[in-house]
Amino acid sequence: MEKESARKRIAELSETIERHNYNYYILANPTISDFDFDMLLNELIALEKEFPELVLPTSPTQRVGGDITKNFATVTHHFPMLSLANSYNREEIIDFIDRIKKTINEPVTFVCELKFDGISISLTYSHGELIRAVTRGDGKQGDDVTTNIKTIRTIPLKLHGDFPDFFEMRGEVIMPHDSFNTINVERDDLGLPPFANPRNATAGTVKLQYSREVARRRLDNYCYYMMMDELPFATHYESLMAAKKWGFNISEHIAKCTTIDEIQQFIDIWDEKRKTLPFDIDGIVIKVDNFAQREQLGTTSKSPRWAIAYKFKAEQACTRLNEVTFQVGRHGTITPVANLDAVPLAGTTVKRATLHNADFIKQLDLHEKDMVFVEKGGEIIPKITGVNLEMREAASKEIEFAKTCPECGTKLIRNEGEAAWYCPNTLGCPPQIKGRMEHFIERKAMNIESLGEGKIAVLYEKGLIKDYADLYSLTYDKIYGIEKIIKIEDEYGLFHESTTRKVSFKDKTARNIIDALEKSKEVPFHRVLFALGIKYVGETTAKLIAEEMGNIDNIINANIEDLTKIDEVGEKIAFSIKDFFSDERNIEAVRRLREAGLQFEQKKKEDNGKEQILKDKIIVVSGVFERFSRDEIKQTIEDYGGKNSSSISSKTSFIVAGDKMGPEKRKKAENLNILIISEEEFISMLNGAKEKDDSKKEKQKDLTLF
Ligand code: IVH
Repeated sequence: MEKESARKRIAELSETIERHNYNYYILANPTISDFDFDMLLNELIALEKEFPELVLPTSPTQRVGGDITKNFATVTHHFPMLSLANSYNREEIIDFIDRIKKTINEPVTFVCELKFDGISISLTYSHGELIRAVTRGDGKQGDDVTTNIKTIRTIPLKLHGDFPDFFEMRGEVIMPHDSFNTINVERDDLGLPPFANPRNATAGTVKLQYSREVARRRLDNYCYYMMMDELPFATHYESLMAAKKWGFNISEHIAKCTTIDEIQQFIDIWDEKRKTLPFDIDGIVIKVDNFAQREQLGTTSKSPRWAIAYKFKAEQACTRLNEVTFQVGRHGTITPVANLDAVPLAGTTVKRATLHNADFIKQLDLHEKDMVFVEKGGEIIPKITGVNLEMREAASKEIEFAKTCPECGTKLIRNEGEAAWYCPNTLGCPPQIKGRMEHFIERKAMNIESLGEGKIAVLYEKGLIKDYADLYSLTYDKIYGIEKIIKIEDEYGLFHESTTRKVSFKDKTARNIIDALEKSKEVPFHRVLFALGIKYVGETTAKLIAEEMGNIDNIINANIEDLTKIDEVGEKIAFSIKDFFSDERNIEAVRRLREAGLQFEQKKKEDNGKEQILKDKIIVVSGVFERFSRDEIKQTIEDYGGKNSSSISSKTSFIVAGDKMGPEKRKKAENLNILIISEEEFISMLNGAKEKDDSKKEKQKDLTLF
């Protein structure tokens, strides 16, 4: 066939096949026999083989998989992926509705949906074609898993109808029960540990490197949220109905409700009917329908104020407690673990459950060999919710909490006002030493992920690293060729069967590790500070401290008063920092890391040379700009001390509006009497500040001349 005719036929076949996919998977209404469908697909496969340069990125053959993704690229979400606030009873739903009605002085319609129990995915469409699929990750950045996601037949590769040029669709990737059961039977045959539940299996499958295997595992998808800068709909419900027409899989189990009774009825129906669904749901999501009302309600840093999840109550089982053992965490926290007679619960077998802390054991009044009730709550880790006192043996003794660390024998301590017991031997207790190094290499810290948990364990056990500072004395020759079989726990730690894995440092692995270590020397100071693993100093706090103090010496020498002056640093954090640097071994580790070339200083925030004219101002950027990209404007706002916000509220100081600012936003700003300035006005505001910056610099020059 001529190339031009092939191009035409490929386009024709692609469209026809995708239409049949849509009819079959989304409408559940096939209009072609399996045989005829396969004939079309085979014809397309043959043509693409003959003319590989004509394969379209949205070709239905992508659904079969085949490509290998070695490393999933990290992608920053255009809109952060927030989560939902959870509620467990009618009162919390009533509170949610009351809160909303207090803010919105007009009738509110709610949309009730199923809460799919899988992993959330962000799908980006440009001119009707799926261009990117990204996992939630930490909400700000996720992994690009497009190749794998294209194998899911309910996710449209090409849209039909009058869709917007560029938008994002959010949804859930799930694994239906029949796929889950088939895979676990196969894994059992192969001697592999079974997946604990469909959600775990989905998470594992989406991150597989070989997309043909993903295709084989038959994942499914439902979409529930459309996002773009200016949505062309007034309500969520309308947006979902339009999405359905464009080719998305939208659940038919959606209800518009206006009263708590209607919402309650939806919850009650699905709490029962969920048992008949071919996939897991773990609750109901209740959302405000109207977008303008959503804007008015806004979001917290974690979740929108316009939605809530109602979580179904967990199923319960009763079983015998055999023994309580004690686990040492990364930070030395001791977690008591109940070892139980195996019992089936919500699709899995439970053998262990967390007992949280000593107070929890006391509250339960737990005795040896008690019969206990076990539940799987929101989390995957089962927990004990009560004791069956009627079945207690008369002479049974109370459970006693450990007095010494089960790993290193050190006497345990408990800080006043805290529930947890700790092993204070931070720098000498093996799980804590390894934990500290695991934290150090994390993506958000030094980002040396080629060195995972297993490899850290092996290098530690071989005596090559005793502390994170030792990582920088590793060389290719020292690690190349190391091999060890280690026992690993599955991703949920100790609560399922553990298994073994061979860890080996082959040529490429060894090279990657050494390269990553070298590259980590460029990691900015605030992340190095976070990587040190000072108790209570999280990522954000580390950033604030680094910006304020400028370098490590200032932090080491700071007193409690200096530290508590920093935003978000209270006494607890300040004392923890002082405590950390009062240990000579930590000072020595910092000295060695500094010697290795890590970054231990950065410009103080006020030192960026820019007049902080926007200090304490909360600014919303809206529309399209001529001279800046939106990101540039946002960065400029931060450079001049301002804070960016995505939604207009009474707290907004002013709005920088470009072209095409949405009418809803404009109306809201006018209602709240918020100043709107143009791009030009913003620039002249900055120019005023720049003049001041320049004159400051001139003065400094003058001073240096003297
Ligand atoms: S809406 C701002 N709708 O639940 C968040 N989420 O705990 C908007 N989920 O991360 C999410 N079914 O993965 C929404 N019908 C549904 C959902 C749903 C499941 C998941 C989603 C989200 C998590 C929140």
